Amino acid sequence: MKNNIILIGFMGSGKSTVGLELARQLDFSFCDTDALIEEKEQTSISNIFAAKGEEYFRELETALLQELLEGREQRVIATGGGLPLREKNAALLKELGLAIYLKVTKDTVLKRLEGDTTRPLLAGEQVEEKIEKLLAYREPLYEIAAHIPVRTDEKSVEEIAEEIIHNYAIMEKHKNK
Ligand code: S3P
Repeated sequence: MKNNIILIGFMGSGKSTVGLELARQLDFSFCDTDALIEEKEQTSISNIFAAKGEEYFRELETALLQELLEGREQRVIATGGGLPLREKNAALLKELGLAIYLKVTKDTVLKRLEGDTTRPLLAGEQVEEKIEKLLAYREPLYEIAAHIPVRTDEKSVEEIAEEIIHNYAIMEKHKNK
């Protein structure tokens, strides 16, 4: 297993915010799979979904994970909310490093993503129902894909980062035994 920290979880679970804080505290570099894909494709995630479809986007995610596995270590990697759902990706994530699942409730997602227009899967009407359905389907898959689940509701970014760093230190110590 490599020594990166990978953050997985639903849209709005705080992967980027927590990831940046972790990278700052650990002096790791930070990357975000959505941002890397947008950079490579030279367009937004919404445009990729609209022009080429979700399946094409999922292929890009898998290819990117494979690339990250070849790359340097000591990174904090924030992932797109759907990336760990493919079985193959879940396996790749665990090879990349410590995979942390940021758990979030529907109400928090609703609050955080109010007015957001960048998530094609939550676009249009009945957003609450969409979140509910997707969460119910995905939660067990996130649990399987991660080494450790971390609850995030009602915790500060610093508290979440501290909990993850604690787990990371234990993992590193264990690896070196
Ligand atoms: C998606 C989550 C998004 C982005 C895309 C699909 C998903 O990333 O990858 O819109 O399937 O949950 P965030 O989790 O960073 O919002």
